[in-house]
Amino acid sequence: MFLTKYQERMLNGEMGEAISKCMELIVKIGELNDADKLIPIKSTQIAGVSYYTVGESIFSFLELFSKDKVKVKVPSWLNPSGMDRIKWKEMGVSDDFAEKQNRIIKLYMAMGIELTLTCTPYLIGHEPSFGDHLSWSESSAVSIANGFYGARTNREGAPLALASAVIGLTANYGLHKDENRVPKIVVDVQTEIEHFSDYSALGYWYGTKYKGYIPYFKGLNDSSVDQVKMLSAAMAASGSVAHFHIENQTPESKLVDLNNIDEKVVFSLEDKKSIYSIFNHSKESVDLVAIGCPHTSVDDLRKICSSLEDRTLKKGVEFWIFSSRKMLEKKEAKYLKEKLESKGIRFFTDTCMVVSPVVREKYQNIITNSTKAAFYLTRKEKNRVNLQSLEEISKGVFE
Ligand code: F3S
Repeated sequence: MFLTKYQERMLNGEMGEAISKCMELIVKIGELNDADKLIPIKSTQIAGVSYYTVGESIFSFLELFSKDKVKVKVPSWLNPSGMDRIKWKEMGVSDDFAEKQNRIIKLYMAMGIELTLTCTPYLIGHEPSFGDHLSWSESSAVSIANGFYGARTNREGAPLALASAVIGLTANYGLHKDENRVPKIVVDVQTEIEHFSDYSALGYWYGTKYKGYIPYFKGLNDSSVDQVKMLSAAMAASGSVAHFHIENQTPESKLVDLNNIDEKVVFSLEDKKSIYSIFNHSKESVDLVAIGCPHTSVDDLRKICSSLEDRTLKKGVEFWIFSSRKMLEKKEAKYLKEKLESKGIRFFTDTCMVVSPVVREKYQNIITNSTKAAFYLTRKEKNRVNLQSLEEISKGVFE
């Protein structure tokens, strides 16, 4: 792989150990993937924040950067952590966990990384532009960046995204190159995709069947970023799908030559039902409704509000919404949040139902509208999940 003289000096340790380690990692991954050179990036989105998912090993890694007082070179944002930074006690997080989680957050902050603590940076003013090269790591954000915005990023592991944040470069391979962004399968959607959970079911179905292949969807109505975030999160979770096209909607779809795609498949009503039937544990014994995977937007809150009318939450049911702190500072979001809180719904930011230990450990019977959340939550045997649309959830747990 070609390196400039300056890049070689960084690699050889002339700018300190931390910079050299970052270069080593980027170059090693680049060489493994036959990258020809390093390219500049516009931003990074860094996973590996929750103490619950990263454990003790993160400290020695991050302390290497604080020792050399290393700062990031490009705008960099953090994925959700394991707790709400303010309401962690209310969530049921232990003092010990909170102390460790705060240590991790401070180490990232010292590097100049913005504490967005969300998987949806594009909902809070950090939308990528068409053609931007990025180094993002959370799988749904990666897929949205590629598919919905036409930016270019591979799904980076957390250390690689951090290394790219420090150096401002990534290796030129995978989804950074035109030839790897071409769809392989046309999906003809022949059933109604109405609810956010339907987008999630479609994504889950596709990811499970066609792991890693870029799809081209036909037959989807005009889809908002909120609907597409459900689709991309699901495809990424069930099949590591990091890019997609939607006919006449996503920015690269007009560049696709359908004559070059041999495989054509249909998504039918039966296929949709089959996904709802995977996550169909009892609705009767619900402990918790968990919404916000990916983190909710203003539109999500509007939808929940409008489906509730005058009803309030049934006794014995907890209803948690996960979002980003910055999203909830928007004027309309604040108003909707207050309205929903008056009905018994609780909001938590900086975290989510999957990367916090609380939901898995405290609640057994969970309802959600996200197949990604359902997929990860049911990895633990004791968690049982029911997948429903927001409208159905409102009817079931409010009276
Ligand atoms: Fe986001 Fe957590 Fe879901 S990071 S995509 S809300 S698993």
